[in-house]
Amino acid sequence: MAELLKLGILISGSGSNLQSIIDHIEKGTLPAQIKIIVSNSPQAYGLTRAKKHGITCAVLNHHDFSSRDDFDRELIRILQNAGVDLIVLAGFMRILTTSFLRAFDQKIINIHPALLPAFPGTHVQQQALDYGVKFSGCTVHFVDEGVDTGPIIIQSVVPVHIDDTAETLAARILKEEHKIYPQAIRYFAEGRIIKNGRHIEIKNIKNPDHAAIHNPPLDG
Ligand code: GRF
Repeated sequence: MAELLKLGILISGSGSNLQSIIDHIEKGTLPAQIKIIVSNSPQAYGLTRAKKHGITCAVLNHHDFSSRDDFDRELIRILQNAGVDLIVLAGFMRILTTSFLRAFDQKIINIHPALLPAFPGTHVQQQALDYGVKFSGCTVHFVDEGVDTGPIIIQSVVPVHIDDTAETLAARILKEEHKIYPQAIRYFAEGRIIKNGRHIEIKNIKNPDHAAIHNPPLDG
């Protein structure tokens, strides 16, 4: 059997994406193992989830560090010691330094709750509603030095309803996050990602889907 992809997962909060990754691994649909989970917040509920599944966790409280560089140096040390192949940012609310990006070059991915390049940054569901878009969604992408600017691996689209609030839209998007993040990690585990600058090709796609979608739906 091929070796399992070794993950280091970084969280700051609820950890529902973390949970979805754990569930896929436990179901046998994701050939990966979580070597370590690191939270920058001691209160993150994701830590409770991790403990329930007996996964090694570390808390690295950014308030205990005098600079971003010091924090990242320690984070690099922890992740290197754990021997991870891929760093998965799952609701991790810290900007990473260039040294961190260099230490794990092309090995860091993030999930963002909007259809990038629209609405990078924070409070993006509200931004999507304020703009009046008819679709939003989520994006898994490589992490580069910009904010949510790295090459895109997979996206999922959801309709925006006229009576949506930031919360109802976020919930609809989150459901999709829980599907595409494990899928993106599986691409890595199976060696199916070909990276050519900003362009990511995924090998062996089973059901190419070329259908357009409309919101509101076309008449008739
Ligand atoms: C998700 O919406 C993710 O896209 C964003 O932060 C949220 C984290 O949710 N980066 P959770 O902690 O995985 O539940």
